Amino acid sequence: MHSNNVFYRGELKRVYPIMDRAEGVYIYDSEGKKYLDAMSGIAVANLGYGIKEVADAVTEQVNKLPFCFTVRFTSQEQEDLAKKIADLSPPGLKKVWFSLSGAEANECAIKAARQYHVETGHPSKFKVVSRWQSYHGSSMATLSISGAESWRRGYAPMMAEYPKIAPSDCYRCPFGKNYPGCDLDCAYDLERVIKYSGANEISAFIAEPVVAGSAGATVPPPEYFKIIRSICDKYNVLFIVDEVFCGNGRTGKFYAIEHWDVVPDMISTAKGIAGGYIPLGVTVIHEKIYDAMARGSGKFVHGVTFSGHPVGCAAGVAVLNYMEKHGLVERAAEMGDYLMKKLSSLTDFPMVGQVRGKGLLIGIELVADRITKQPFDPSLGVSKKISLAAFQKGLIVQPGSGGADGVRGDHILICPPFTLSKAEADQIVEILRDTFKEVQKNLQKT
Ligand SMILES: Cc1ncc(COP(=O)(O)O)c(C=O)c1O
Repeated sequence: MHSNNVFYRGELKRVYPIMDRAEGVYIYDSEGKKYLDAMSGIAVANLGYGIKEVADAVTEQVNKLPFCFTVRFTSQEQEDLAKKIADLSPPGLKKVWFSLSGAEANECAIKAARQYHVETGHPSKFKVVSRWQSYHGSSMATLSISGAESWRRGYAPMMAEYPKIAPSDCYRCPFGKNYPGCDLDCAYDLERVIKYSGANEISAFIAEPVVAGSAGATVPPPEYFKIIRSICDKYNVLFIVDEVFCGNGRTGKFYAIEHWDVVPDMISTAKGIAGGYIPLGVTVIHEKIYDAMARGSGKFVHGVTFSGHPVGCAAGVAVLNYMEKHGLVERAAEMGDYLMKKLSSLTDFPMVGQVRGKGLLIGIELVADRITKQPFDPSLGVSKKISLAAFQKGLIVQPGSGGADGVRGDHILICPPFTLSKAEADQIVEILRDTFKEVQKNLQKT
């Protein structure tokens, strides 16, 4: 029963159904309605719901040790999870910092970058470059480095103005070019911005390898991150990858950046790392950054009360064990290929401009005109209409807007649990087909 006391997220006037229980890829509300969760919550329930091994690990940990103040102690669970994550990480990324969310994981990374430069004799470096159409969190610092206009606009006067570069979006190239004849201007934009701002002030560059919620699963070309890495090296700028959404195996590799065969200086992750059983944020830090702090001031002046929470760490270990035991990273690749192929059949709708993504992180760009790629009028709220109609039919997908130029552009995002079956994948496509049919018909009437 609704209490009238909750300050709801998002749309305050909406009456939210009460989510009662969940099993596998399905959610049931308090009225008994069943939904196929093609969003894994929001890239969180990557194993699906109701995994007994993880629930048991959490329960056992709550009974054994519910809290550990990590300024005074470490815990075996923190040690074990750090080792597991370091073993899964690229060479040199061996130090693991725990927090509770994606925003906190990114805050840790940008503060560690700043401290690294101070410790190594470059105290003027503090600015973090990021990309337009990006999202790195809702705290003031992570919103400052985010480039998604609709999230930023209201708080813009309060933000630190950090430089932004163009997004890498081959469907709507910001330079009006076509890959591969484009000279990768989107990557070299980083060098232009570093030169304009002064390399002596730039501390780090942050990017999502596959841009999820803010752009609808855009995937940069194969050369992109190698160029980014070389520019970062040239100007002593640390390279942070935000894998909060696209990491944890979702794209068919444990970290999405592995598709580009590039080693970053820091990786932040959260969401699915503990499968949604408990909040957990993770920043994986290159040894060179840790060593600079250890040799220099001897400490990292940062932290939150619940850093290294033993229950979160126990859940993380159980999730990684389960993923390994069931080959879920490989399954995300396999089911991603299957779902992508099936979803590509939706391009027979004139409103579907592109189906794109990697693994089980898939975006569908919606357009008013497929030939000219003209976006819909934002006042039509097309992606919202699609997600609401799908929700009514028992399918959960995520709407997104502003991907074309900050204001215009509609997409929907799909990122189901890695345990999705082929029959469930077919069901997603079937419901979406009905949804597109319905929304397209209604749009024709307006
Ligand atoms: C790419 C990315 N980074 C960071 C965040 C922030 O994570 P959190 O909401 O856990 O703070 C999100 C959240 O959606 C995200 O998608």
